[in-house]
Amino acid sequence: MTILVTGGTGVLGRCVVGRLVAAGHRVRVLSRDPSRSSTVHDVDLCAGDLRELASLRPALSEVDVVVHCASDARSPEAVDVAGTSNLVAALRGLDVGHLVYVSIVGVDRIPIRYYRAKRDVEAIIENQGVPCTIQRATQFHPFVAEMLARSARRPFIACPTGLRFQPIAVEQVANRVAQHVEAGAAGKAADLGGPEVLTLHHLASTWLSAAGRRPRPLLPVPFPGAVGRAFKDGANLCPEQSSRGLTWTQYLEASHSPEGAVR
Ligand SMILES: NC(=O)c1ccc[n+]([C@@H]2O[C@H](COP(=O)([O-])OP(=O)(O)OC[C@H]3O[C@@H](n4cnc5c(N)ncnc54)[C@H](OP(=O)(O)O)[C@@H]3O)[C@@H](O)[C@H]2O)c1
Repeated sequence: MTILVTGGTGVLGRCVVGRLVAAGHRVRVLSRDPSRSSTVHDVDLCAGDLRELASLRPALSEVDVVVHCASDARSPEAVDVAGTSNLVAALRGLDVGHLVYVSIVGVDRIPIRYYRAKRDVEAIIENQGVPCTIQRATQFHPFVAEMLARSARRPFIACPTGLRFQPIAVEQVANRVAQHVEAGAAGKAADLGGPEVLTLHHLASTWLSAAGRRPRPLLPVPFPGAVGRAFKDGANLCPEQSSRGLTWTQYLEASHSPEGAVR
């Protein structure tokens, strides 16, 4: 098949591209600046910006499947919501047989701006004409590690009470996405989460130690409001849909081992 991966230069998208190329598909990657994307091998790089409808048409020519991984948490209304509307408009009249979208567990229950936008994107995808698969996943290992690295710029790390994550290996999510591409449209797929649910306190203390950072206080802080309640209720988790992939400890060992660069 010929497959367009939006966000194919991103953390998940690159891994998805690798899986699809290895499976023998012709893969095209949409990027705002393909010249920055030289590390993506064996793919056609296509310049395009989700915010500009006309720029999407060339990328979609003779495509069988679209895997939609592009996102911008800083401008989710313009890129994710309006950009997906553009993508769907550009698909009209073409022969694309399957649109796969990657979303986040709990976007319908946690009232934060980015999640609202992701929920809106799910609705746009569900209501357009092309058969689709919507795969929600929990937070990827590198996302959690980067979040902790940002928090560790302070002399302490604030740990909102009750905040837990179910971090998952990017490779697991990419595998699931690649399976959807092979299997065909599944509609709303079962959520996908990492192998264990861990408190932020545990994630922070293990990350500090693995990253060789100076120990610092991990301060319990209240997590008020509707967002706090949703996280405390575990709206971001799917323990009944946990995958058997890399654990957080294994990820930390692999990414901080002497021979392995931090991923
Ligand atoms: N990170 C997580 O923990 C997590 C968990 C669950 C689900 N997800 C979802 O998985 C998807 C991929 O996440 P990720 O962390 O891999 O993302 P990422 O690394 O931040 O990559 C974002 C991608 O979006 C593309 N992009 C941004 N703005 C664009 C625009 N205006 N037009 C076209 N492309 C644009 C970028 O491509 P260029 O810069 O090359 O244009 C880049 O490849 C997202 O939908 C995210 O919500 C993420």
